[in-house]
Amino acid sequence: MSLIAELENLITSLQADLVRVFSPLELEQARVAHLGRKGSLARIMARLPELASAERPAVGQKANEVKARLTALLEDRKAELEAREDAARLSGFDASLPGRLPWQGSRHPTTLVIEEICGIFQGLGYEVASGPEVETDYYNFEALNMPPEHPARDMQDTLYITERILLRTHTSPVQVRAMKGRKPPLAVIVPGKVYRRDSDLTHTPMFHQVEGLLVGKDVSMAHLRGTLTVFLRGVFGSETRVRFRPSFFPFTEPSAEADISCVLCGGKGSTDEGACRVCKGTGWVEILGCGMVDPAVFESVGYDPEEVTGFAFGLGVERVAMLKYGIGDLRMFFENDARFLAQF
Ligand code: DAH
Repeated sequence: MSLIAELENLITSLQADLVRVFSPLELEQARVAHLGRKGSLARIMARLPELASAERPAVGQKANEVKARLTALLEDRKAELEAREDAARLSGFDASLPGRLPWQGSRHPTTLVIEEICGIFQGLGYEVASGPEVETDYYNFEALNMPPEHPARDMQDTLYITERILLRTHTSPVQVRAMKGRKPPLAVIVPGKVYRRDSDLTHTPMFHQVEGLLVGKDVSMAHLRGTLTVFLRGVFGSETRVRFRPSFFPFTEPSAEADISCVLCGGKGSTDEGACRVCKGTGWVEILGCGMVDPAVFESVGYDPEEVTGFAFGLGVERVAMLKYGIGDLRMFFENDARFLAQF
């Protein structure tokens, strides 16, 4: 190939390169490859002495033309990139992000319930908080008034990672983290995944809970009852009756469990088909655990139990979703069958 032809080829070569240039660095690399001291133009011109002296002026002239053309191509691409960047900046659009399909499908029932619960409590002024799923023994048990060897630890089949690190068995450790990170008064609502070594028809090793905590001056059991009644009627309907039964949790004193009137039979205990299968004929279904924050928990976070009181509660999200949407089998939550998911 003649040197003239080689020089002309440089134009298409740079054009091809510029198509893939999107940044100032890439632009500079393309410039150096073609116009740099050791670039392709210089390499061709280094062979000028090989030519007879009569041929040299024409090649020199061609080289000048090609050089001007290459410079113009680089300038054009630079202007193009700058214009793109300005437009992107003006519109807030980032052209370097990958493409995205429009949002499709429906929200998972677990997500729907979490959003609904958090929405109700946000309306009451609660802040949504979260904590780690891999937790220490201290936050999951000890700070919640469950020292080593405490029998209440057996209520929760724990998945340990090491002797002191575990997968949290409940969202209650976030109570401790929330109090340590804030000053009273405070109100938090905490959705999240929890883990237990448990797997059968009604248990999965991972499920979701929502924890609630309110701490302030003169917070009483009456506030707890009022708040949880408003909440449960918000989720299950205004006709829902709520009752509280004494119970035990190490981190609350007194502790209670809340029941709601059965979502299927309305509390009658029976349907046309006989004894109600949801409440087993009792008219009530258990829905959450709650109580007044134990003074020992306040002490573990450095709050003065003489100064502040508070209430806390925790409930299972899948259980709420099953009752609310009439889902009979817990496994459906995790099978990802589109026919199931599309119903919500
Ligand atoms: N953490 C308890 C559980 O997983 C639920 C619970 C009960 C949370 C009472 C609370 C509470 O905050 O006050 O079974």
